[in-house]
Amino acid sequence: MKRRNFILQSILGSAVLGIFSNSVTAFNLDKSLKNSAMISYKSNIFPLTIATWNFPNASKRAGELLAEGATALDAVEQGVMVEEADIRNTTVGKGGAPDRDGNVTLDACIMSPSGDAGAVVYLKYTSHAASVARKVMEETPHVMLAGEGADLFAIQQGFEKEELFTEGSKLAYQEWLKKKEYKPIINIENHDTIGMLCIDKNGDIAGACTSSGLSYKINGRVGDSPIIGSGLFLDNEVGGAVATGMGEAIMKSVGSFLIVELMRQGQSPQDACEEAINRIIKANPNFKEFQAAFIAVNKKGEIGSHCIQKGFSYVKYQDGKNENIPSSYNF
Ligand code: GLY
Repeated sequence: MKRRNFILQSILGSAVLGIFSNSVTAFNLDKSLKNSAMISYKSNIFPLTIATWNFPNASKRAGELLAEGATALDAVEQGVMVEEADIRNTTVGKGGAPDRDGNVTLDACIMSPSGDAGAVVYLKYTSHAASVARKVMEETPHVMLAGEGADLFAIQQGFEKEELFTEGSKLAYQEWLKKKEYKPIINIENHDTIGMLCIDKNGDIAGACTSSGLSYKINGRVGDSPIIGSGLFLDNEVGGAVATGMGEAIMKSVGSFLIVELMRQGQSPQDACEEAINRIIKANPNFKEFQAAFIAVNKKGEIGSHCIQKGFSYVKYQDGKNENIPSSYNF
């Protein structure tokens, strides 16, 4: 069922809808179904930053840079760097949980408003995977570098060689080795991928997605986060989408690409995110065992978010403040 309950909050006083270009401040999504979800729409909302989960420091960093006039690409890179450097976050960057053999490996991708893209997978010695992805995009004729080659490239580009396996992650790994159970916990172990979309003052969109992937994955496993179209996709004429959650399900749906294409066909970001999640549910009989979530924004600044299980939220930075917004969900 479509859920359009548009509440016109602030109109110039004019009855002529065609001239409310700077006057419409909000569409409030009908809350009658399932749970609450809010999308906001203002024509003068840019710059705007949204990111998966509640990473207020990351969104604030990006948002402040945008307010100072930074490009969407610079802001999104700098924003996700905050989480990549935070060792308390065990599924992004330094301090990420290792695979079963004790390797901490990072995956990331980045896209610019021009549609250009870069990605790295199985990066072992540099915490700022999205920045290395940007270098791949800007300094090579390729889109993705993997493993040893990606690490070598990062060093050649001037990135510091780091030890990503922190004492905290080592202790957690020692505990895990006692039972060696591979059982990602919904909204706990598979939740910390940061996917961010920034729209700058000019209305241009850039995005990044960066993760250490699933805790205790098989050595060599790569998730959705560095895969253009799965973890992230954008088209500067349409909008963008990013994903978090079980990479295997997200990859099989090519969900971020799907959402952008649905928005291109006229769907709202919210409807497009719901469609992407519904397809994942349909294709995966075990959908109750994992989380998958998308957030999306279109060129008008309308935002959508949907996930499988209750518990996912996203953060929006706009007009100098952060807001953590619970996502709608199916279960
Ligand atoms: N969404 C992150 C991963 O599955 O690796």
